[in-house]
Amino acid sequence: MRAYADSEKFPFLPSGRMITLKNRPVQGAVLLITFIFLTISLYSLGRGREAGESALDHYKERFSKSAGIQSKAKEAKEAKEAKRLYAEELLQRPLATDLTSIPKLFHQSWMNSTLPAKFEEWSHSCRQANPDWEWVLWTDEDNMNLVKKYAPWFASTYDALHSEIYRADTARNIYMHVFGGVYADLDTECVGPYEEMFAEYNTSMIVHNKPPSESDHFDKSGQRMGLQPTQVDEESRPKSTATGLDIPSSAEGERKVFLGRMGTDEDYVHSIPNAWMGSTPGHPFWVLPLESCEQHIGSGAQPEYLTGPPALYDRVRDYRDEYDHGRGEKMDDHYGKGSWRNLYPPSRDHQKLPPQSMVVLPFWEVYPYSWERDGEAYRMLCWVTQDTFSAAMCKHVLGLDHWGSHSITYWSHSWSVDGHWGEHMDALNKPTETPDGDENDEESAQAKQED
Ligand SMILES: *[C@@H]1O[C@H](CO)[C@@H](O)[C@H](O)[C@H]1NC(C)=O
Ligand SMILES: *[C@@H]1O[C@H](CO)[C@@H](O)[C@H](O)[C@H]1NC(C)=O
Repeated sequence: MRAYADSEKFPFLPSGRMITLKNRPVQGAVLLITFIFLTISLYSLGRGREAGESALDHYKERFSKSAGIQSKAKEAKEAKEAKRLYAEELLQRPLATDLTSIPKLFHQSWMNSTLPAKFEEWSHSCRQANPDWEWVLWTDEDNMNLVKKYAPWFASTYDALHSEIYRADTARNIYMHVFGGVYADLDTECVGPYEEMFAEYNTSMIVHNKPPSESDHFDKSGQRMGLQPTQVDEESRPKSTATGLDIPSSAEGERKVFLGRMGTDEDYVHSIPNAWMGSTPGHPFWVLPLESCEQHIGSGAQPEYLTGPPALYDRVRDYRDEYDHGRGEKMDDHYGKGSWRNLYPPSRDHQKLPPQSMVVLPFWEVYPYSWERDGEAYRMLCWVTQDTFSAAMCKHVLGLDHWGSHSITYWSHSWSVDGHWGEHMDALNKPTETPDGDENDEESAQAKQED
């Protein structure tokens, strides 16, 4: 309304004073256009409420399409969510044949299928943000079946690991190698579709449960179909100048591992957590952490250095120093000599396999909150174990919209060396504030619990 406050000064039908054109034909044309405009306007009005509403819906839709990532996540939430896929069923499916697309499989794991309240909520957020995916919740028992079926030679190492957390660590590497997809810890909240992120890194995705058919991958001329890039709001994505970090380059049509960086210190051994990972199926990188675990299990190494983030960090270094050259021939040769080679038999002819590489995503993609010094100022809001934790405020102060983040991990540290930390579990069992609730709601909910 504000924009048209002065409209009375500029009447549509010229009084003669307003229009100072010298040429009569031009004045005639103006009159004619005005007449047509009025006729159309009246006609539209005449079509009544329904027409008005559908036009409004149309603009709402256009607006939500052009507005940033937040509204995309909102749209996804209104749509359906990723369907649950039971591990037993996934274990029966054939192994993938498309080695350069990431299957739409979202892997999570917990000791059994009863999730603490917050984990339940956050896993729904990920299923909603990625609605056309399948969601697999692996239990300790499923993990054991996975090892038995696909990695029997690894079973003795797996059994010998100190406790379930270390078994769960190694199982993630196996999900990634055997099936590919995305793995995320259960304290991960998703705020945007991962498909959009992978598209930015030139990596396509594929539905897992559909047998690959030619029409999915090839166009009519027999060419492999390129990516259908998702619309990306360029302006909201900061570039390297803002942080000094480069956006890693990532070519199309490769076998690819995605890991995330936490913080900005690349020398920090905890800077590449294993709380989030993505991969095309059969990528040979994943055998490095598994082999290293086999080799060092008898050495008395600290469990975390056997299977946890510091071990992953070292393997990333090994991969980059040793194997990530050319098409990755050296890594394929290494894979071809190991126990895993029967899953994705390598070819002697390296040209027959697509090239391979690894992308370590900059911090804003999947770990916008760092539990290290980088994130210290946000700890009271962003660390789920704190009484002052507020996911909504945390996302706001970290500027997830600004960065175009796709998920955030609140670092529950729910595992201790021998099981679960009771104190942390209490925080996780507490449901989050209601979607439109404020602090008072949360406080009263808390008060109720304490009663
Ligand atoms: C899962 O484990 C928890 C804790 O031991 C237990 O309370 C719950 O009943 C279990 N759920 C199932 C489905 O076994
Ligand atoms: C994706 O591919 C395009 C075209 O080859 C390239 O310009 C762009 O830099 C690539 N993106 C990344 C993240 O490497």
